[in-house]
Amino acid sequence: MTMKRCIWTQAEAQRKSTYLSLSFGRRRYFPSALSSLLFFLQMEVDREEEQEQVVTPWEVAAKGDGKIDYDKLITKFGCQKLDHSLIDRVQRLTGQLPHVFLRRGVFFAHREFDQILNAYEKGDKFYLYTGRGPSSESLHLGHLIPFLFTKYLQDAFKVPLVIQLTDDEKSIWKNITVEESKRLARENAKDIIACGFDVNRTFIFSDFGYMGGAFYENVVRVAKCVSFNQVRGIFGFDNESNIGKIGFPPVQAVPSFPSSFPHLFPGESKLRCLIPCAIDQDPYFRMTRDVAPRIGYDKPALIESLFFPALQGEAGKMSAGDPNSAIYLTDSDKMIRNKVNKHAFSGGQDSQENHRKYGANLEVDIPVKYLSFFLEDDADLEHIKQEYGAGRMLTGQVKSRLIEVLTALVTRHREARSKVTDEVVDAFMAVRPLPWMFD
Ligand code: TYM
Ligand code: TRP
Repeated sequence: MTMKRCIWTQAEAQRKSTYLSLSFGRRRYFPSALSSLLFFLQMEVDREEEQEQVVTPWEVAAKGDGKIDYDKLITKFGCQKLDHSLIDRVQRLTGQLPHVFLRRGVFFAHREFDQILNAYEKGDKFYLYTGRGPSSESLHLGHLIPFLFTKYLQDAFKVPLVIQLTDDEKSIWKNITVEESKRLARENAKDIIACGFDVNRTFIFSDFGYMGGAFYENVVRVAKCVSFNQVRGIFGFDNESNIGKIGFPPVQAVPSFPSSFPHLFPGESKLRCLIPCAIDQDPYFRMTRDVAPRIGYDKPALIESLFFPALQGEAGKMSAGDPNSAIYLTDSDKMIRNKVNKHAFSGGQDSQENHRKYGANLEVDIPVKYLSFFLEDDADLEHIKQEYGAGRMLTGQVKSRLIEVLTALVTRHREARSKVTDEVVDAFMAVRPLPWMFD
């Protein structure tokens, strides 16, 4: 069962109401009207504090309404909004229409992505780094997002890519043996390769397999700069956390430095790194960016996405404990159809009559949300939104369009994955130079 990236509401709400009644109990004997007012204001402050959303690499908890406030995250984490001028520059520099995920704001935040583009404009290349913690046999649609986007960046900018499989991390965090975690890493590598990465420009490694040498030297350089107090602040560790957790963050940090890969980037210590990921991974890279200048390295740049929501709606949780909360890349056509029809939260009205009259609430409608990630044709999407929003199109019709789109995506993935043999995995994971990685 993963608590990660789930969005809690009920338990939180319960905890909150207990808390509120306690604070009521504490203060209700205050006599005057003024103190009632003060008490009321205090209650509001308490509620604000209690409802604070939590986003860490292993927990995503929204506020009361179940929605993540992404603008607030940008302010809290200190990253920048990815605005239109940057997307236009991507279009100019790559000479192609920017990816759907850029056009529709799925990748919505960044750190120094503008500097990567400045340098690229002057002829300086960069490399991409992303990763996956192999905690389960199969990936769901949400996991696909950073990989599909990374593949687009690799093709559009013609740059090398390193993909870290943190098998050590998952063994430390979850109830997974070292052996099982290694096996899952190889299985997940197949799903990642099936996204279409170019073997001439991609190095996939697992921590258990690769860590040592120059990579480990960098791990130690970073670890020396970070105190227990700091990781406790960033990641929420406590005195009961096993020491593997406390020591892990530098392992995810150092692929951001080209010198961790001497077979790929010898003598290229100034090559910049760009990390595509969902915003839950930001804490790792805040730490990395803080340490980098102290050990003489450049800070990695980041481009960060929203979370792909659960079928039950943005307040629901996409969790391994509930297979109906997400669509997995191993789901059959029939499972996809059932999940969408039975479980996708609809913003349509309760009767056809009302629906025709009021139209669907697109803000909460999951079929429309999913289509806006995976239906590539802008005009087609716009048309669906208009017709459905005006009540001329019914939920059933939108769902069947979504089923078409997802079935095509998953079928394509299944076919690509079936071609990824053990030899192909070995080829991607071989420690080797990539002589044509910038061509
Ligand atoms: P992991 O395996 O939990 O997730 C892999 C990638 O998928 C993103 N992701 C999502 N994106 C959109 N919607 C969702 N619902 C969703 N769920 C997960 C994650 O942000 C991540 O980008 N510790 C990492 C592995 C790692 C890594 C990295 C990731 C190592 N180095 C560098 C990104 C960049 C992990 O366990 O990811
Ligand atoms: N720590 C991530 C997780 O548990 C996996 C990961 C490792 C990762 N390196 C990364 C994710 C780089 C994004 C980018 O989900």
